[in-house]
Amino acid sequence: MTTRGFRTGIALALAFSVTGGGVLGFAQDQLPDALGKDQVVSVCGKCHEPQRVAALRLTREGWEDVIAKMMSLGAKATDDELKQITDYLAEQFKGEVAKPINLNSASAVELESVAGLLRKAAARMPEVKFTIADRLIVEPTRAPEDAPLIGALTEAIQRVTGRTASLVASPGTYDQKHVARIAGVPHCVAYGPGELDLAHQPDEYCSVDDIVSCTKVLALAVMTLSS
Ligand code: HEC
Repeated sequence: MTTRGFRTGIALALAFSVTGGGVLGFAQDQLPDALGKDQVVSVCGKCHEPQRVAALRLTREGWEDVIAKMMSLGAKATDDELKQITDYLAEQFKGEVAKPINLNSASAVELESVAGLLRKAAARMPEVKFTIADRLIVEPTRAPEDAPLIGALTEAIQRVTGRTASLVASPGTYDQKHVARIAGVPHCVAYGPGELDLAHQPDEYCSVDDIVSCTKVLALAVMTLSS
């Protein structure tokens, strides 16, 4: 199992830029009446609610990036329509952030763009001095698939749930990379109750049944490994 390296310094930088105007909590589903609205509704409403745009506040450059991404996903529009859509979004949903970044899936280049934002901000405030550095980086890990730990867990999961376990790479940051890289325990996986898709979402929950069967699995696996 693997986790991505997590850059705490950059995470702080992102929090800073988002509170600086990334996402607003009101008027989420309103498209103000103005020139270009009809084009947004007809062109951008083909695959999802056109109101999706209302959750974002971006610079013109940021909107151009989103629109280019939508074209690459298959959106169709004439040059005229594109210009009207860009003008409308850049005016009605104006923000200071070029583009929101998902830290779990951002590329190194995108993370570098966060550093670029900070440098720009620093240039506007010569009295503020700061440096940007990656801090606390812990590289991802992956336990060998024939690790006894994986065998014991797989067997216990089969016995308790009747299902065959599969190994996945974690898209987030778990503790096992610290245990593996810092404490030097090479065979290390993340296993626990709950749905990955719900993690860090509003109203995240975990069913009691999941917790009970997970506890049984852990107990069985520990018994296997210690016998
Ligand atoms: C061909 C289908 C399609 C059309 C047409 C389309 N989109 Fe999208 N849009 C998507 C898909 C698919 C996603 C989810 C992309 C993802 O999760 O990476 C998305 C996501 C978004 C998001 C969420 C943020 C993001 O970058 O993922 C915004 C904002 C958005 N679209 C705006 C627009 C705008 C503005 C238009 C009109 C110019 C448009 N969409 C037209 C398919 C489309």
